[in-house]
Amino acid sequence: MSINILSEIKTGDLTLKNRIAMAPMTRSRAPQTLATELMAKYYSQRASAGLLITEGTQVSEQGIGYPWTPGINTEEHAKAWKVVTDSVHAAGGKIFAQLWHVGRMSHSVFHNGELPVAPSAVAAPGKQFTHKGMLDLETPRALEISEIPGIVSDYAKAALLAIEAGFDGVEIHGANGYLVDQFINSNSNKRDDEFGGSIENRGRFALEVVDAVVKAVGAHRTAIRLSPGGVTNGMLDENPVESYGFVIKNLAKYNLAYLHLMEPLAPIDGLPQYQIFKQGVAKTFRPHYPGTIMINGGYDLEKGNAVVASGDADMVSFGKLFIANPDLPERFAAGAPLNTLLGPETFYGGGEHGYTDYPVLEPVTA
Ligand SMILES: Cc1cc2nc3c(=O)[nH]c(=O)nc-3n(C[C@H](O)[C@H](O)[C@H](O)COP(=O)(O)O)c2cc1C
Repeated sequence: MSINILSEIKTGDLTLKNRIAMAPMTRSRAPQTLATELMAKYYSQRASAGLLITEGTQVSEQGIGYPWTPGINTEEHAKAWKVVTDSVHAAGGKIFAQLWHVGRMSHSVFHNGELPVAPSAVAAPGKQFTHKGMLDLETPRALEISEIPGIVSDYAKAALLAIEAGFDGVEIHGANGYLVDQFINSNSNKRDDEFGGSIENRGRFALEVVDAVVKAVGAHRTAIRLSPGGVTNGMLDENPVESYGFVIKNLAKYNLAYLHLMEPLAPIDGLPQYQIFKQGVAKTFRPHYPGTIMINGGYDLEKGNAVVASGDADMVSFGKLFIANPDLPERFAAGAPLNTLLGPETFYGGGEHGYTDYPVLEPVTA
């Protein structure tokens, strides 16, 4: 029988009931950076996924960049998240925490007037959503080399707290123009020390973070998300196939829980990214990575089954479809219609509306 996204998968020491993951999605419903009962309800409603991945969760106060996002850097955070993980486990699910440091995608209003930090003093274009409304992004402060080990260890400490909080593992957020990605991309990393210049140097931060998290909680509980060829938040690498290829080849030596890759979502003709867009991320990088690949970005049931059957990826994560369909795997299995996604004004902040009030399929009665 051919493999499809509803088939079970074993990865590391996890057995997942299907190959469907809920992609990490910031929902900004954590006042005081603490997970809530409502978040427990939201995640446990979606526990029929083989794996849930939480919204980006900051590893330190320095890592914050948006209002009402949760943290995992204190015992209080871990205690609050325990309510979520217990609820997901009681519903038969498995859940990883996404570990996040936004780097330059922040603003001094989050840091008592201090500038956000980044590999180099290069500003991202555009504005940032803050408690004080939309504010122009500032030129960040370039990190001193002496500060880097402390940030690497913040990821490891957060990973330990996540395990204490009952998570099945952690996913390092290395995508979408946040700190790890800012180090990898040649347009945001202009350092001339051992963390900048060649891709061996630009990739060093990502690999040191992975190494530290693996040492803290084990490779079987560690994953990383990358967005090769993505241009979100001002990213632009001059040779993304080579840059991400280097990082991915070096990840292959760990037996990670999974490598989560995002497709570049828009065609970017004329940019070096276009090659990846045309061929697809999974196909481009599969030759470098024999372990479990989770693919994301614009997938549906048909495309998901096709990519898993081709062997280019082993799992598929769904974002917006999971916002609107708490029982997405059941709907896929039944060939049932999907709910319509409400407008983006329900994505970030607010309460139950557009969060925990999407309907599930009615049980079939004889
Ligand atoms: C509301 C919203 C919040 C998101 N927040 C995150 C996040 O915290 N971390 C992350 O890695 N990606 C985040 N993403 C990106 C999604 O994980 C996913 O990559 C994207 O929605 C494309 O997948 P899809 O086509 O299945 O929706 C977010 C997307 C949405 C719609």
